[in-house]
Amino acid sequence: MITGVGGYVPDYILDNEEMSQIVDTSDEWIMERIGVKTRHILKPEQGSGVSYMMTRAVRQLLQKTEADPDSIEAVICATTTPDYHFPSTASLIIGEIGLKNAFGFDMEGACAGFLYALEAGANYIRSGRYKRIIVCGGDHMSSMTNYQDRNTCPIFGDGAACVMMEATTEELGLLDGYYRVDGEGYEYLHMEAGGSHQMPTHETVDNRLHYVFQDGRPVFKHAVTKMSNAVELIAKRNNLTKDDIAWIVPHQANVRIESAVARRIGVEEDHVMINVDHMANTSGGTLPLCLWEYEPQLKKGDRLIFTAFGAGFTWGASYLIWAYDGAKEAAKSPAQFYKEGEISREEWYKLRKNS
Ligand code: UT7
Repeated sequence: MITGVGGYVPDYILDNEEMSQIVDTSDEWIMERIGVKTRHILKPEQGSGVSYMMTRAVRQLLQKTEADPDSIEAVICATTTPDYHFPSTASLIIGEIGLKNAFGFDMEGACAGFLYALEAGANYIRSGRYKRIIVCGGDHMSSMTNYQDRNTCPIFGDGAACVMMEATTEELGLLDGYYRVDGEGYEYLHMEAGGSHQMPTHETVDNRLHYVFQDGRPVFKHAVTKMSNAVELIAKRNNLTKDDIAWIVPHQANVRIESAVARRIGVEEDHVMINVDHMANTSGGTLPLCLWEYEPQLKKGDRLIFTAFGAGFTWGASYLIWAYDGAKEAAKSPAQFYKEGEISREEWYKLRKNS
């Protein structure tokens, strides 16, 4: 079961006004087609690498859960933007925090990576050999975003979050999952160079092949269909009607995708976690960042369905029963993001921009 959540987003906020000065776009177009108003960006002068963000998220998790760092047995990181090809991001986090009894590794499932990592983590716990592990999800998307390509650059942001997973004898935690990869998505969503297939050369750099390439329309269609089908399958398999589902937690790629999935399932939008408007698409970070932000509203016994879709194509859905009342835990580390009702969003953006 999940017993805690930690998160981190960098301070710098890139809003649509600034985006419109970088590429030929507008706030109207981005809001209408994607639904993103602002995204957090990790600037080199603040820090670099996804490990910078994940380490901060893990520190917050340890502080909130008051877990003894020596009791952590594994760290699994879902990311497509590791600091290095090797060593793993997990090893950097373990070293930086000084976890003495942990092993760890990275998993690459693109935007569905956290879903897979959560399943892997749950199975380590189910095996009985491990009692307490941390699963991280996050990406430094700005490190592979082409800020000359208006088709992709408004979509992405940076951020990371993590969860603690522990054993339980109650009917709580990850109860079911449906996961798939079809290998048909390469042509629509990939980074061409930099791996062992096409090593970095002056030419690949000149041709800007070290950035995300996306053909948005087919990806959009596959995302809606595959996430909706996966959620439907999981709900049916577990005899869940729409009234049983407290929250759908979808990958945050585009507010139109999230709405379409909610409509297909028949779940009201106020039961769908959405933060793409101010977090954008943080790839492996979207699902845990939703939990981080919505933690105050989560109650023990809430039934959650996660769903995600990404390059590969990779996708799936999982069913989880939430294990604790989130309000008290969330209060331990006041969030640095917008909280509904306190001030208007516009005022908040202004304050953050000027801070
Ligand atoms: O996280 C992994 C999974 N990824 C996703 O789920 C993303 C899925 N795809 C999408 O979210 C959408 O397809 C996008 C947001 C990427 C694009 O939205 P769209 O409604 O599919 O737009 P489009 O690509 O069909 O482009 C429509 C028009 C084009 O102009 P023409 O050719 O019709 O004259 C584009 O050139 O919009 C133009 N356009 C823009 N205009 C202003 C594309 N990007 C921009 C822009 N600003 N930033």
